Amino acid sequence: MIITETSLGDLAATGPDARGVLLRHQLDFCCGGGQSLADACKAGDLDLQQVVTDLEAAATRGSESVDWRERPVEDLVNHILERFHRPLPEHVNSVVAAAEKVERVHAAKASCPHGLAAHLRAIRDDLTSHLAKEEQVLFPALLGGQRGGMLNGPVTVMMREHDDHGENLKHTRSLTKDFVPPEEACATWRALYEELTRLEADLMEHIHLENHVLFPRALKKV
Ligand SMILES: [Fe+2]
Ligand SMILES: [Fe+2]
Repeated sequence: MIITETSLGDLAATGPDARGVLLRHQLDFCCGGGQSLADACKAGDLDLQQVVTDLEAAATRGSESVDWRERPVEDLVNHILERFHRPLPEHVNSVVAAAEKVERVHAAKASCPHGLAAHLRAIRDDLTSHLAKEEQVLFPALLGGQRGGMLNGPVTVMMREHDDHGENLKHTRSLTKDFVPPEEACATWRALYEELTRLEADLMEHIHLENHVLFPRALKKV
């Protein structure tokens, strides 16, 4: 049974099916993961009962997934590195290149997402520096067994930067009309919006795992 006072972060931690439902309803489970389901539905003017029904259906599907709350912190760090950090630079470079092409070729069209390439380049710069900090400071500390208050500083900085990433994602949506290509969009334009949808989902899952699963465990004294 879904309790509507449960936070979006806790719901997201139950598995990929629940995250799929939250994504579909545009419920922000990464940076906004502290909100309760009821509050988030109210704020987004969503039908709470419908979201609950979808989450219950997802719970019965129960796709096989790892519950990272139960696994060693070191395994979770390695999973984040392999699943999210490694492929990210190439993925972001590919959407930057596609956005530059779309803006160049379709500049005269009213529906052209003007400013998207520059915005994605800024996202790339932010992400490059963010991943480097995690990979050079926080993750080595966690893999070396450090836990507790000594990690407060780096964790706080990372969470603040996650909030910035969340704001950047919202702006990407507004520049692309929620990733819905116009009728006249060519194949590159459509593929770009599909890839941006995937990039958003990956970043949300990545930030969610860090904010709601990894960092609370990092800060807990052993
Ligand atoms: Fe990360
Ligand atoms: Fe991060």
